[in-house]
This record gives sequence, C-alpha cells and structure tokens, in this order.
Amino acid sequence: MKREIIQTSDGSTTIHIPEWKESYHSKHGAIQEANHVFIKNGLSLFEGKDIAIMEIGFGTGLNAFITFLESSKLKQDIDYVGVEAYPVSNEELAAMNYVAELGVSSQQSTFNLMHQSNWEEKCIIDDHFALTKRKQLFDDIVDENYFDLIYFDAFGYHVQPDLWSTEIFRKMYSALKDNGVLVTYAARGVVKRSMIEVGFTVEKLAGPPGKREMFRATKKI
Ligand SMILES: C[S@@+](CC[C@H](N)C(=O)[O-])C[C@H]1O[C@@H](n2cnc3c(N)ncnc32)[C@H](O)[C@@H]1O
Repeated sequence: MKREIIQTSDGSTTIHIPEWKESYHSKHGAIQEANHVFIKNGLSLFEGKDIAIMEIGFGTGLNAFITFLESSKLKQDIDYVGVEAYPVSNEELAAMNYVAELGVSSQQSTFNLMHQSNWEEKCIIDDHFALTKRKQLFDDIVDENYFDLIYFDAFGYHVQPDLWSTEIFRKMYSALKDNGVLVTYAARGVVKRSMIEVGFTVEKLAGPPGKREMFRATKKI
C-alpha cells in the first residue's frame, strides 16, 4: 500500500495511508496524542517505578522516544519491547521531525540508535532504558505475566477490526502482570466490550486534541 508523509496540526510529521484514509498518529497532532494517551494516561501512573512496557505497533518509534525522554526525567528504569511486523523505511524515518519538534537535538543519536538497533536483540539505549524490537505479528504474541504497561497503538478498528478482537485482547491480558494497564487512543463500544469480555476493567478518559474519549484497561485481580 502507498504511504506518504504528512504534517499533523501540532507541526509533527506522521505517515499516512491514503487507501485506508488512516495515519500512524492523529492528524490533530502526533506528539500531542502520544503525550496524552501514552505518557499522561499510561506511563505517569508508574512514576518512580521500574517497569516493562510493550508497544503494539512500534512504527516510527515516536512513543518509544517520548517514553525514553520521560524516563530519563523520572529516573525510572524501562524495559521497552516494541512489536512491529512491517518496519518503516529509512526514507520515512528521515522525514520524521520528532527530535526537532520536541526540541531535543542532543538526542538525535538516541532516536537513530533506536532505529538502527537489531531486531530481536535487547539494546541498551542508556542506563535507564533498554529497547527490544520484535519483528512479529500481533497474533503471534505469547508473553505471560511480564509487562506492567501496554501501549496499544494498532491501526483503527475501521481498517483492522481483527486487531481489536477478544483474541488479541486475551493475549494482552495474559502478557500483563496483575494490576497491569493497557492504554489506547480508541473509544468504540465494540472495543470496550472485547476488553471487558477477556477480564479487563475499562475506564473512559478524555481523549487527546481532536478526540473526545479514549480507553484505559486494567488487569485487576
Ligand atoms: C498506528 S501504527 C503505530 C504507530 C507507532 N506507535 C508510532 O509511534 O509510530 C500501527 C502499526 O502497526 C503495524 N501493524 C499493522 N498490522 C500489524 C500486525 N498484524 N502485526 C504487527 N504489526 C502490525 C503497522 O505496520 C504500524 O506500524
């Protein structure tokens, strides 16, 4: 499928798939969305704690990079696993302006390292952050009781409904530790029903700019 680079409303770039009318991030602001959904409503719950995070859809690495920046401030140790079956190209990465938009030019080498690191190997990004990129289909995830937090950032239900099914959420539930948390930008009733069916407790929270609501699901035992 054809992919093109677009600029979102907060100035940050993303990848757009015209055939699906779908983007890797919100058109209302890629960085704003990542900060709101994954950092404010996810990572910040674990302030001061060392945690393991799994990202569903590593894509451009924006969520991983922002998490790295936050964890250095919060002195947290993060064991980050990014799952991605269809990695973005070097040309696409070169067009992503996150380092400049976030005003962290001294961290350009960190963003590059995240992308240059080998797949299936744990890469020590710094004293506080380890990244493992797994080239894997979401269907093939079999982790159990390992992660504290999941960033669920698959393409939308309207284009990939299978990725929002009970089968996938059951895998997410198993992969989380007790009291583990999954955050996602989605807020559809059908998604909430699948989450509840596999055992999650689901909260509806205010969404990022341009979106009214989003879900946070907790594995409450
Ligand atoms: C919304 S984008 C993720 C954006 C990413 N979090 C970022 O910050 O750039 C969804 C990602 O899921 C990946 N993907 C789609 N279907 C998949 C599947 N069945 N298994 C694994 N990855 C998949 C896509 O290649 C894409 O990178």
